[in-house]
Formats: sequence, C-alpha cells, structure tokens
Amino acid sequence: MCGIVAATSRKRDIVPLLVQGLKRLEYRGYDSCGVAVWDNGLKRARSVARVAELEEQIKHEHLHGEMGIAHTRWATHGEPLVCNAHPHFAGDEIALIHNGIIENYEEIRAELQAKGVVFSSQTDTEVLAYLVRDCFHGDLLKAVEDALNRVRGAYGIAVFCKQDPSRVVVARQGSPLVIGVGEGEMFAASDTMALAGETDNFIYLEDGDVAELLPESYKIFKHVGTEFEPVEREVRQVQAFSNAVELGPYRHYMQKEIFEQPRAIADTLEAVREITPAIFGDQAAEIFAEIDRILMIACGTSYYAAMTSKYWFEAIAGIPCDVEIASEYRYRKSVPNPRTLVVTISQSGETADTLAALKHARELGMDKTLTVCNVATSAMVRESRLHFITRAGVEIGVASTKAFTTQLTALFLLTLTLAKINGRLTEEEEAQYMTQLRHVPKAVSSVLALEPLIIGWTSRFADKEHALFLGRGIHYPIALEGALKLKEISYIHAEAYPAGELKHGPLALVDESIPVVTVAPNDQLFEKLKSNMKEVEARRGELYVFADSDTGLSSSEHIHVIRMPENYGALSPILHVVTLQLLAYHTALIRGNDVDKPRNLAKSVTVE
Ligand code: M6R
Repeated sequence: MCGIVAATSRKRDIVPLLVQGLKRLEYRGYDSCGVAVWDNGLKRARSVARVAELEEQIKHEHLHGEMGIAHTRWATHGEPLVCNAHPHFAGDEIALIHNGIIENYEEIRAELQAKGVVFSSQTDTEVLAYLVRDCFHGDLLKAVEDALNRVRGAYGIAVFCKQDPSRVVVARQGSPLVIGVGEGEMFAASDTMALAGETDNFIYLEDGDVAELLPESYKIFKHVGTEFEPVEREVRQVQAFSNAVELGPYRHYMQKEIFEQPRAIADTLEAVREITPAIFGDQAAEIFAEIDRILMIACGTSYYAAMTSKYWFEAIAGIPCDVEIASEYRYRKSVPNPRTLVVTISQSGETADTLAALKHARELGMDKTLTVCNVATSAMVRESRLHFITRAGVEIGVASTKAFTTQLTALFLLTLTLAKINGRLTEEEEAQYMTQLRHVPKAVSSVLALEPLIIGWTSRFADKEHALFLGRGIHYPIALEGALKLKEISYIHAEAYPAGELKHGPLALVDESIPVVTVAPNDQLFEKLKSNMKEVEARRGELYVFADSDTGLSSSEHIHVIRMPENYGALSPILHVVTLQLLAYHTALIRGNDVDKPRNLAKSVTVE
C-alpha cells in the first residue's frame, strides 16, 4: 500500500521522472498523491485527485528540482484529505514520504507536542517527519537512524532536508523498497516498474536497511541492535518493463488481464518440461521427501487459490492439507509439525500478513517453505527455501484475475509432483494431466468467447444490492472467488456458500430479488447441486448458472444458463472462474465504477 519514488540527480529536473513513477505506482494506492522537491527551499504539490491531475497542478505551479520525493497514498491514519497527503514536512527543514504504519506514533506525537510541535495532519508519517527533525543535529543519516530506533511498525521511507538538499535517505522495514543505480543520479522506489527506462541496475534493500543516496554514490547500512553497520548489497540487473502498464486496446487493466490469461497460463507452463521436484528449486527433492502434510497460507484471492488446491492435494496426491488465512494464522496458537510443507501463495510476494505468517511458521520450527508468487524478487520468495514463479506478468488491476489462474496452474503442478513422489501417479496419468494442462490456455480462450452472453446477464445484476454464489466441492472456493470479485469492484454485497449449506440458513435470503449465481460443472456432485438449485427455484429465486455443456441444463423461466464450452475435469476451476471474473467486470462497468481502482482498496497490501 502506498507507492514511493525518490530521485537525486546532478543533470536534470527529476519532476517528470517522479510523476511518471507515481503513475506506474498508482496501483499501490490512490487516495491522494504528492511530490516534494528542493528548489531553493522545500516545495510541494499535493492532491486528492489522481496523478494525472497532480501533473497539471505541478505544471501550473512550476515545480522543478534536481532532487525530490513522491508518494501515492492508501490511507491508514487520517482521511484522504490534502492535509494528510504525503510528502509531509517538518517545518521548512525536513520532507518525508512513508509506506507503512508507525505503531507507536501516538506516544511520539504527544512527546513532540509537549515540545511545541503543532501537527497539521492526522498521520503517523508527519510524526515521523518531526521525529527526524527532533533527532537532527547536522547529519540526516544519523537523524533518520536515531528516529528509526524510536519507532515500531512497518515502513519504506524517503527523506531529505534543507541543510543538505542533494542527499536522500531511504529505509526499509516490512515495506518493499529498491534503489535504482543510475549514472550521475540515484533513485529509490517501492517497485522497479516505477523506474523502468531510467536504469536496469537495482538493489533490493532488506528489512532493517537504511541507505544514503547522492547523485554519484550510495551507502547502505543494516540495523544491528541499535547500531547501523555498513553493508554491501548485490546490484542486480533487472529489466523493469513499463509496457506492462500500457492498456493497449483495452478499457481497463482488469479487462486486459482477464484476456491475458491464456498467454499467462501458457507462459507459466513454458518452463515446465516434465513433472519433477526441480521445478520448485534445487532442494525440493530432499524437502518433499521429508513432508507428510501441507499447510497453505495466503490472503484474499490467493487464499481461494489455496482452498481450491486443497481438493487436489488430498484427492490426487493423497496428502492432508490445511489452509489458513494469514492474518489469523500468524496470531493464533497452532500445533506445529516439522514434517509440514508450508506453502505461501501471493501475487505480490509482499503482503504483510502472509509474509509475517511465513516467518511465524518458521519460528515454530517449520522450515520446509515454498512460495508460489508472481514477483521473483519479492520478499516472500527471498524468505522461502523453495519457490515457483508464476508468469502472469505485472498485474495492475486491484481485482486479481490472471494471478489466480496462474497460481492454480502452479498448484496443480505441485499436486502432480507430490502425487508422483507418493507413487499415486502412473506415467499414463501424468501424460494425460500434462496434455490437459497444456490445453488449458485454449480452453480459457473458448470461455472468454462467452463474454457477449455474460454481458447479456449483467444488466439484471447492475441494480441489485445483494447476490448469492453457490458451488460444491472444488468449485466452492471458485464461488467464493466470484463473490469476492463482484463485491470488490461492483460494491454489490455478495456471499458464497457451498450449495449444500443453503438450507442451513442462507435460504432465508432467497426471493425473486436476489440473483443466485451457480457454478455447475458436470462432476460427481452435480445431481446434489441440482437439488440445491431446485430449493432456490421453489423460493422463486433467480438462478444464473454456468453449467458444463454435458450437464443437459438449459434455460427456463427463472433459470438462466450459460453453457461452458467443455467439461474440464480436475482443472475445471480454472475455466469456471473466468466466467465469474467477466460477470463482475461487466457489472461494475454498468454501475459506472472505477474498475481498476475500487474504493478503499489497493493492490499491494503491505500493512497488516
Ligand atoms: O499479493 P497477494 O496475492 O498476497 O494479495 C492478496 C490479496 O490482497 C489480494 O488477492 C486481494 O484479495 C485482491 N484484491 C483480490 O482481488
């Protein structure tokens, strides 16, 4: 949450670079944005509109400078108002931007107020800015280090001061931050994408790192106790792509990403020649030989990917599997089992709760860790012994789509790998599954071709305030994911139930006003599902059913049926979810919502 960019140069006005960076980081939060520069004094422009409007404001106010910092905000402390927008100033001396949460800011705020500081925002960030000023005795690096020794919480920060205006100090604890090494200029950002085209040389700071950037040099220090010791960090060549943020012919990133799924799944499978532990890392064979259960940990859509794969792990690989919501797992007393494979799933690899849950599992003595992630350089990948990198490409839309289907692809590969090790997969079965997997991109393309039929339904959804989603077995998590998609971008209250659970309470909600979306594959539970649909019909509920073509289901007065192109057996969840993504997308469009930037949300959730 929140995106930060900083730059110091001796050769150019860096404001256009900062604005460009903010545009690319807007996915991280868009409640407000701002830029501050040194231009014979601390100058800034802040806005509660989008970066495009801030850009106009900047032109109007002639903001220029060779050193500056910029921020796009997902509000935690204080409403989205200009006074709460970053950069925050401490008087006319310090400018600071922050991604994260300072947990003990109230006590520091009170202490500074007692010294006469008058705050102009409700943020924890302004407190940190004044704390740095309070610690400043001529050396900005030292002031930041001393201030950080006082705070608890998570941060990625960038700071500059009037006494030494070509120097930027950055620090990281729990929030992502990279340094970009340029020629005669240095940069920092929450994500390499912000700096695409400016440099290919990046340093991924680690938790506890503080760095000092000057146009020609940088120095990094790591936090050891209360001291900061010089440290070398590897400079990696990373080609950050900004073309991923181009929309091309699409209206929204979410639409683009839904339609990219055939390519994303094909790319994810590309590197896999055969089912072997090696696809998860060098130590995988050894680690997989020592496990007899799986613990999956994730949040949001990634959690639903985990839930889906539990059905595969238990049915195909014969391994018991537990699935935990990261924010719950990290705080509850659980019973650790060192023979557990701990699998974290995350699109970003930076989700604070999942990362903390992974560390928690390790602290409990479960060190057989594997992360399925879309960002190879993320903290979660670095923290895990094994990993599988999905190749969805950058996902910008806040509503996750292609990340989910590529996660499922990866988790199916893990299922086959463990099934093979357990002697539960014959050569013939392996070949069949692989053929099926390689056909998924084509099958998803056929599902995407259903879009006009789905659009035909959405006008009936657009004026509703509630919707129910039903599924059974492995399609229950798919119903959950469909409900999440609908609620997060259309703001329609949507709940998902395993269809058999309907009669235990939720059936009381059903009348002619509530659409009941049903995921109806032709599997061993289909007859049971049909009975559940009858229960809805008998209460005059309006059913919207995505049915496999071989179910024989067809539309009638209160049942609307869209037939899926083919029954896809074990991999059916990957196809069925695509219809629900399209349903949510087109419903949100009709309701006039900002599909890519739904209210109150952000793409990367780096606070707990
Ligand atoms: O980056 P992650 O996969 O760890 O993110 C987890 C959730 O924040 C994310 O899936 C969220 O639920 C999406 N907005 C859902 O569309």
